[in-house]
Parts: sequence; structure tokens; C-alpha cells
Amino acid sequence: MRESELDVEDVPQAAATGEVPETARIDDLLAAAHDRARVHTEGTVADYIPILAEADPEAFGVCVADVDGGLHEVGQTRRTFSIQSISKAFVYALVCGQLGHQEVFDTVGVNNTGLPFNSVIAVELNDGHPMNPMVNAGAIATTALVPGATATERWEFIRAGLSRFAGRDLTIDDEVYRSEMATNGRNTAIAELLASYGRIRSDPDEAVDIYTRQCAVSIDARDLAVMGATLADGGVNPVTGVRVVSATVCRDTLAVLAASGLYERSGEWLFEIGLPGKSGVSGGLVTVAPGKVGIGAYAPRLDSAGNSVRGQIATAYLSRALGLNIFASAPHTNQENPG
Ligand code: DON
Repeated sequence: MRESELDVEDVPQAAATGEVPETARIDDLLAAAHDRARVHTEGTVADYIPILAEADPEAFGVCVADVDGGLHEVGQTRRTFSIQSISKAFVYALVCGQLGHQEVFDTVGVNNTGLPFNSVIAVELNDGHPMNPMVNAGAIATTALVPGATATERWEFIRAGLSRFAGRDLTIDDEVYRSEMATNGRNTAIAELLASYGRIRSDPDEAVDIYTRQCAVSIDARDLAVMGATLADGGVNPVTGVRVVSATVCRDTLAVLAASGLYERSGEWLFEIGLPGKSGVSGGLVTVAPGKVGIGAYAPRLDSAGNSVRGQIATAYLSRALGLNIFASAPHTNQENPG
């Protein structure tokens, strides 16, 4: 989205100082971000997975989790929804933790496709290479790398890992899983195509099944904030104190999110918000300010690329007002006003 669509033209960009913003400022600015985004009714709720069309278009919650474990919440932060594509970021981190930087880099890649998240053409254009783990092809290829002797063990690796990121036991929303499995022709085709190029070695049907399960995991905006804060905190969940992944895995995952977390809109997002983030088609959005906070937002109306509109507006406000944008510096010495 453009600056004018994000409704932040009048919000001065605070420089990123490296300091975690003060608690009182987070609370005030979070309320202001929510107020500003709430009036926006642009966008449409996803309906290509039938059950998603039943979401309340007005639902809206935002949570900021800081690296000290503090939670700041406004709106419907406890309304549950399916994690969808946001799972891609965290499963990627879990798989990198097991297989290491280089193997996942070679198998899945880190470059943006410039095409929609479920593009088949992107796979064809790149000799069957999935290109990055945030599009469906790359996410299915990543899920196919999950360790375990059986499908049950591989699924449990994902469910337990996502739960460690959230700091609570997460479960599947069965209705969402069944609704997506019944309309999953495109992902099945992508997996078969990857297998035909030798890009996934496990059973493609199993990879799609586990990928669909991971997308159906039920979470809320508070969970997203804590999951994001774990990536902001060098891999340690700041609420539970449990190490989930290494600091190196966090660094790699955030770099991938910066390049492709919002699909073909990732450049626009980085230009306006200046932070790694990941969106999901049910309306979730997680954003990470490294060393500072995780932001979780939920609002089901999406832009044409599949990214939450209110989520983006609220996050853009917070990025500017809290000085989170990683590219926003100020002169170390004020040359313009010496003394
Ligand atoms: O595979 C799919 O199409 C969905 N399970 C996830 C897509 C998604 O969340 C894209 N996000 N904007």
C-alpha cells in the first residue's frame, strides 16, 4: 500500500535509536494506531477457501509484545483465526534450525518471485525452483524438509514448534483444515510440479497435507505478537524464557521476511514500514522490530495481494511513531544546530 493509503502522511518518522520504546508510549500510540486504522473499510475478506469468507470483516485487534515480555493490547486481540501463510515464517525458522542455513538456502532459495503467493508460473519460470519459503511453492518445499520418521511425527514437529513460538499449546481448527483440503487443487498442483522437477523428495501429497494443517493452526493477535517478539529477541520467547531457535536462525528468517514477507508488495512494505513482516490470507499480520518488539495484528479485509489493510495501517503508524523503521536514522551530531 502507498503512504496515502496507509494514512500516515501526517505521522513524523521517529528515528530508530536502538532503544526499546517506553511502555507508556507503546500503550498510547497503540491506542492511536487502532483508532486510525479502525475507520478504514477498504479491502475484501478472502473467500477462495470457503470457510474464510465467514470471518467478521469488522474484527480488529493489535498487540505489541516487547522483548521484556510486556504485552500491550487493543481491540479484539483474543479473537481466534487460522494462521495461514504466517506459519511459513515460523516453520522456515524451525526447519533452518534443524538443517542449517546452507541446505535450506540451496533447496528453497531467498529471492522474491514478484508474483502472487500461489503462482504456478513462478515455479515454471525458475526451472522448478520454489525461489523463497514465503510463497506456497517454497513453503510446501520447506514443509517437505521437516524431520521425522512418520507423517505424524513431522506434523508434531511443526505443531510443537509453533507452540513454543507462541508460548502456549496451539491446535488445529479442523473446520478450516477440511475447508482448505476440499479446495486445494492449486497447492496439490504446485507440489506435483515441484516433485516433477525433483525439488521435493518426500511424498507431495503428504507435504500438501502437512502444509494445509500448519495453515489451519488457530491463533490470536496476542499469539502473533509473542511469536514475532521471539524473532525480535534472538530466538528466546520473552514471555516463557524458552529458547525456540538460535539467533542466527532469527537473522536469516527476518532477512527472508524483509525480501518476501508481503509477496509482490514486499518492496512497498519495506519502503513504507521498514521492518520484516509476514501476512496471512485470514487477516493476520506479524511484524518484527529486531531487538525491540513483535507486533501482531488481525483484521480480515485484505488488499489485492492478500495482506490485511487495517493491519498494515496500524503497523505503519506504530513503525513511524515508535521509531521502529530499521532504515530511519538521525545525525549522530546535530550539524544543523551546533550547540
Ligand atoms: O495455501 C494457501 O493458499 C493458504 N493456506 C495460505 C495463503 C496465505 O495465507 C496467503 N496470504 N496472504
